[in-house]
Amino acid sequence: MKIAILGNGGREHSIAAQISKSKKLNKLYCLPGNAGTKFIAENVDLDINDFDILGKFVDEHKIDLVIVGPEKPLVEGVVDFLSNKNVKVFGPNKIPSQLEGSKIFTKKICKKYNIPTANFGVFNSVLNANKFLSSSKMPIVVKADGLAAGKGVYICEDYESAKNAIDEIFNGKFGVANQVLIEEFLQGDEMSYFVISDGKTFKKFNTAQDHKRVGEGDKGKNTGGMGAYSPSGLINKDLDVKIIESVVKPTFQAIKDMGEVYKGFLYVGLMIKDNNPYLVEYNVRMGDPECQTILPLLKTDLLELILACCDQNLENQKVEWKNKKSMSIVLCSKGYPDTYKKNVEIPNLEKISINNNTFIYHAGTQLINNKFYSTGGRVLNFVSISDDFKKSRESVINEIENLNWGNGFYRKDIGFKIIDK
Ligand code: AMP
Ligand code: GLY
Repeated sequence: MKIAILGNGGREHSIAAQISKSKKLNKLYCLPGNAGTKFIAENVDLDINDFDILGKFVDEHKIDLVIVGPEKPLVEGVVDFLSNKNVKVFGPNKIPSQLEGSKIFTKKICKKYNIPTANFGVFNSVLNANKFLSSSKMPIVVKADGLAAGKGVYICEDYESAKNAIDEIFNGKFGVANQVLIEEFLQGDEMSYFVISDGKTFKKFNTAQDHKRVGEGDKGKNTGGMGAYSPSGLINKDLDVKIIESVVKPTFQAIKDMGEVYKGFLYVGLMIKDNNPYLVEYNVRMGDPECQTILPLLKTDLLELILACCDQNLENQKVEWKNKKSMSIVLCSKGYPDTYKKNVEIPNLEKISINNNTFIYHAGTQLINNKFYSTGGRVLNFVSISDDFKKSRESVINEIENLNWGNGFYRKDIGFKIIDK
């Protein structure tokens, strides 16, 4: 088969690494990929959000299957577009992608299908939103409706900061806004819960815990994710049943009731309190860095699973996992998530030895004249699997220290809630 993976992050490199092991593969393209994917696929530098260009590439190269990594093309309808060309595509169509593309769309489903989530209100003017605030308890959460690259959520400690968030959203900081979402602040511990779906049936696709804050002890600014571990320490049988029955099943029912078919990964972002799940958000893709953390644990051939989803045959597939603990730590450019230097060489990367239980997935990297350079804030993901999280973390830190990249920094405390308690 000829396969194209859309995206250029650590998530896509880890997906490419799995797919490249499959016997069914003849040729793998990464669009546009990064320095890591270059060793296992052909990188093609094209804009995946320009569907005409993408469609031409798919036609000319007779691609059999497209796997979509990031949310933007999904929310903009890349699956509908490519499906019309009779290409197999793994990822949800435009309408079900609104689960990530519109927070208000998801909240309305929660209300209609009785899915546990934070109490909320939707307001169509600054005046109405502010009126509501004056009778609300703090902290409170103010959210822009659409995609905002992880930046459209404000956790507000007081009335003034909530008012400011509402102003920023209506002033168009995240694109034209006619509405704002205001939510009750949920206490608890977060968990990322994944499922893979073929539109008829779905299977659990492991759990993880991400660390989104830039600083140790979960302090400082939000980032795309500084590291993760899998499985989450919060999951147990009872909670698993509650998540499936009260969150996942009614959501897929809602999608079916709209006459839609959900094929792809679903990332269920949860707050867990007293062993009860509350939906915080949906993403219609794998998480990053959760994907890099989870995939090394997968025993089943990922390509078989993806093809089973495309053919609505997932029911007959088993999803098997190694009984190990996985941890990823992201090596970032100094200054991230604010300003940072780009195009800084990463010497000696090729000398870092990896074994069956360690993995390096590239994110913001490029290869020029056989030398690696950074191109982004999150640069490399170091992953290790072992029998316990402490060992996995030690192994990852050891590798990062061996690389000793002068422009890099990373969090040494990923997994602190379960390792250092
Ligand atoms: P979202 O993009 O909706 O996932 O929000 C980003 C982050 O904000 C989440 O991962 C949570 O850490 C936090 N968050 C969002 N909504 C709430 C809420 N209602 N209560 C507490 N924290 C929240
Ligand atoms: N790790 C968070 C996300 O992928 O959205």
